[in-house]
Amino acid sequence: MIYKTHYCIRQKTPMVHHRVMLRCFVSRSLLTNPVAGQTRNMSGGSLAGSQSSLAGKVAVVTASTDGIGLAAAQALGQRGAHVVVSSRRQSNVDKAVALLQSEKIQVTGTICNVGKSEDRERLVNMTVEHCGGIDILVSNAAVNPFFGNIMDSTAAVWDKILDVNVKAAFLMTQLVVPHMEKRGGGSVVFVSSVAGYQPMQALGPYSVSKTALLGLTRALAPELAQSHIRVNCVAPGVIKTRFSQALWQDEDVVDEFKKQLSIKRLPSTSFLGVGEPEEIGGVIAFLCSKDASYITGETITVTGGMSCRL
Ligand SMILES: NC(=O)c1ccc[n+]([C@@H]2O[C@H](COP(=O)([O-])OP(=O)(O)OC[C@H]3O[C@@H](n4cnc5c(N)ncnc54)[C@H](OP(=O)(O)O)[C@@H]3O)[C@@H](O)[C@H]2O)c1
Repeated sequence: MIYKTHYCIRQKTPMVHHRVMLRCFVSRSLLTNPVAGQTRNMSGGSLAGSQSSLAGKVAVVTASTDGIGLAAAQALGQRGAHVVVSSRRQSNVDKAVALLQSEKIQVTGTICNVGKSEDRERLVNMTVEHCGGIDILVSNAAVNPFFGNIMDSTAAVWDKILDVNVKAAFLMTQLVVPHMEKRGGGSVVFVSSVAGYQPMQALGPYSVSKTALLGLTRALAPELAQSHIRVNCVAPGVIKTRFSQALWQDEDVVDEFKKQLSIKRLPSTSFLGVGEPEEIGGVIAFLCSKDASYITGETITVTGGMSCRL
């Protein structure tokens, strides 16, 4: 006790100085950092049960009738969210809805080609009409119509890739934000790729589009934090889906990828020893939950240890 008093008296001037500095730092942070000082609704609202519960939330997941999008819908639904699934083909939507219903997930389905503005608007309007609002957007759709040397890619290739992979992700966000604001907040997750960090050979324009999503995440996060909306991103490595089939068909490519993986799986425990869609779905659900309430503007790489550096 004596020691403490003595210490305080001796340190009086520096301690006051430190407190003033700390106050300045905190008020500066509050002014410049739109996330600072917000504790309410950053995951998109109240909690029922655990921190990871999404009960009462409405989640729109694009391109969600197969692969990573479907796994994201399952993960969100298992945590209690009502999920709205969509893709270009009605037959795929019907199959996904039936599967999710069989898993006791609350689900609505509709056609949406994210490259078409009328489809994007219909998806959002239908969700609001059916489900009463929107709390979560997972922007997962992407196309890759081109394999080859980047110098051989055409304007049409770039238009298609940037329209679907980047512009549609932004335009979907722009459409859902007013509805999230009405709910007091929300969460947006973009699906990028390891190729966004390290361009894949023969997938130049696609890789560039995935790098753009890393930038979009960071550009949107500070602005939308003012509306209690968090914006994050996941960058999967090689995951077993139809989309990445072209990679698995080439044994040399698979071998090259495997050299870069830290998590070495036997093909008997996982297809070709690469990642599974559920391993991305769970991370997406985490980012949408209260567990991630202080995370915004981030990209989580889920690559089995492949190095990701810009
Ligand atoms: N698989 C990987 O190794 C990997 C790695 C890194 C990143 N990713 C990213 O993960 C995301 C999902 O890929 P995935 O591997 O899960 O693909 P996937 O299994 O082939 O599934 C693609 C889904 O997208 C739908 N779709 C395709 N084009 C669409 C469009 N224009 N509008 C709306 N829906 C569309 C498809 O259904 P319809 O045919 O009915 O439209 C299907 O439901 C993509 O953004 C991809 O870049 C994948």
